[in-house]
Amino acid sequence: MAEAKKAFIKSYGCQMNVYDSERMGAALAADGYALTETPEDADLVVLNTCHIREKAAEKVYSELGRLRPLRAAKAEAGGRMTIAVAGCVAQAEGAEIVRRQPAVDVVVGPQAYHRLPGMVARARAPGAAAQVDTDFPAEDKFDHLPEDRRARRAPAAFLTVQEGCDKFCTFCVVPYTRGAEVSRPAERILAEARALVARGVVEITLLGQNVNAWHGAPVEGMGAGLGGLIRALARIERLERIRYTTSHPRDMDDALIAAHAEEPKLMPYLHLPVQAGSDRILKAMNRRHTAEEYLRLVKRIRAARPDLALSGDFIVGFPGETEADFEETLALVRSVGYAQAFSFKYSPRPGTPAADGAQLPEPVKAERLARLQALLAEQQAAFQQTMVGRTLPVLIEKPGRHEGQMVGRSPWLQPVHLEAAAGLRGRIVPVSILSAQPNSLAGRLAA
Ligand code: 5AD
Ligand code: SF4
Repeated sequence: MAEAKKAFIKSYGCQMNVYDSERMGAALAADGYALTETPEDADLVVLNTCHIREKAAEKVYSELGRLRPLRAAKAEAGGRMTIAVAGCVAQAEGAEIVRRQPAVDVVVGPQAYHRLPGMVARARAPGAAAQVDTDFPAEDKFDHLPEDRRARRAPAAFLTVQEGCDKFCTFCVVPYTRGAEVSRPAERILAEARALVARGVVEITLLGQNVNAWHGAPVEGMGAGLGGLIRALARIERLERIRYTTSHPRDMDDALIAAHAEEPKLMPYLHLPVQAGSDRILKAMNRRHTAEEYLRLVKRIRAARPDLALSGDFIVGFPGETEADFEETLALVRSVGYAQAFSFKYSPRPGTPAADGAQLPEPVKAERLARLQALLAEQQAAFQQTMVGRTLPVLIEKPGRHEGQMVGRSPWLQPVHLEAAAGLRGRIVPVSILSAQPNSLAGRLAA
C-alpha cells in the first residue's frame, strides 16, 4: 500500500483559525492525508493566516519564503510539496498572493475551505495553474465538512457558532475578510456539542467574531440569543464548562447576563473588548458605545456574577488620539480592573475607513503601548495573586513539561501546573494554589 501523503497545517491569529485548522485537518484526513507536526517532507503545507494587523499579515510572506527551499528540496527528491494559503490573508489578497509568491499553489478563503481537498487535488495535477477561491458560497461549509473523528479528543474544544461581523469598527478588516454576520442553526451546534462530549470533551468554548450577536432560531424550548443557546448546551450531561468569545459590548443582552447569574456551567470569565476609553475615539472607531456605557455594563455583569473576571482588547495610537484621549483609556482600565488583556498599536488596514486618517508617529504609539501594558501587567499580577491560598476546580488538560506534571485550567482560564496522574486528564479536580506567575499558577491536588 502506498504511504499516506503528509499534510502540515499552521494556524495564525485567533481561536477561530485554530478551529478552522482542525476542520481542514479532518477534511484532509478524510481525503487520505496524515497530519504531521513539521513542514519538512510534507506533501501539503497549509498556512491558515491572519490579516488583523499588518505584522500578522506579513508573517505569511516570511513563512512562504522559508518554505520555498523545502519545496525545492522535495521536488529535487522527486516529490511534490503543494503550498496552500487559507484564512483571512487569502480572503483579503486573493490571487495577489500567487503573484507575490509563485510557490503558492492554492489560495482559499475562510468561507470556501470545505473545497480545499478538491483544490489541492487539482493543483497537484501535472501542469496545473494555481487554484484561487475566495467566494462566499451560498452553501454552508460546515455541511460539507467531515466531523473530527479522533476517538478521544482533548478535554477542551472550540465550537464555532457564528462568523463574520456587521459592526464595521473603522479599524477592522473582519467585516471584509470574514463577511457579514452569519449564525449557525442551534440544532447543528447542539449536535456538534453532543458529538464532542461523546468523544470526551468536557469544556466547550463557543466561538464567533461577534459571538454574542448569535441569533439562531430557538429549538427545544430554549430562550432566544446566546443566553438561550448556552442554557440549552448546559443541559448536555457530562459537559461541565461553557465559555464564549469574542463579545461586543452592544450585544450583551439581559438574557445573556442572566445566564451568567443562573448557569453554573458558564465560566466566570468574559473577554469584552472596549478598545479605548475616550468617547471621541470610540466614536471615530464606530464602536457604538461610550466609556460610561461600557462601565455600566461591566457593573451589571459583575452584579450578576460577582466572581466574574474580565479580559479586553485595546488599541493605542488610533488616528487623532491625543495624550488626553489616551489617559482616558488608562482611567477606564483603572476603573475596570482586568484579569488579562491584549493591547496593540493601531495598524492601518487597507480598505478600512481609519486607514486614510493621519497616522500618529511610531514612537508615540510605542510609548503609549508600553504605559498601557505596564498598567495591565500590574492588574494581571494582582489578579493572579488573589488565587494563592485558594482551592480551585481545575480541568486537567495535558501533560506538563516535567515528568509527573500535568497542566489544567482554572475557571478563569489560567493554566495551572501540578503533580498529578495522567489518568486525571479530562477530570475537574480541586487544586490548592501555592504560587502565581504572571501567566500561570502552580498548585497541588487538594485532599
Ligand atoms: N490595528 C490594531 N489592532 C487591531 N485590532 C483589530 N484591528 C486592528 C488594527 N487595525 C485588535 C482589536 C481587536 C483585536 C482582535 O485586534 O483590539 O479586538
Ligand atoms: Fe472587528 Fe470586532 Fe469591530 Fe467586528 S466588532 S468590526 S470583529 S473589532
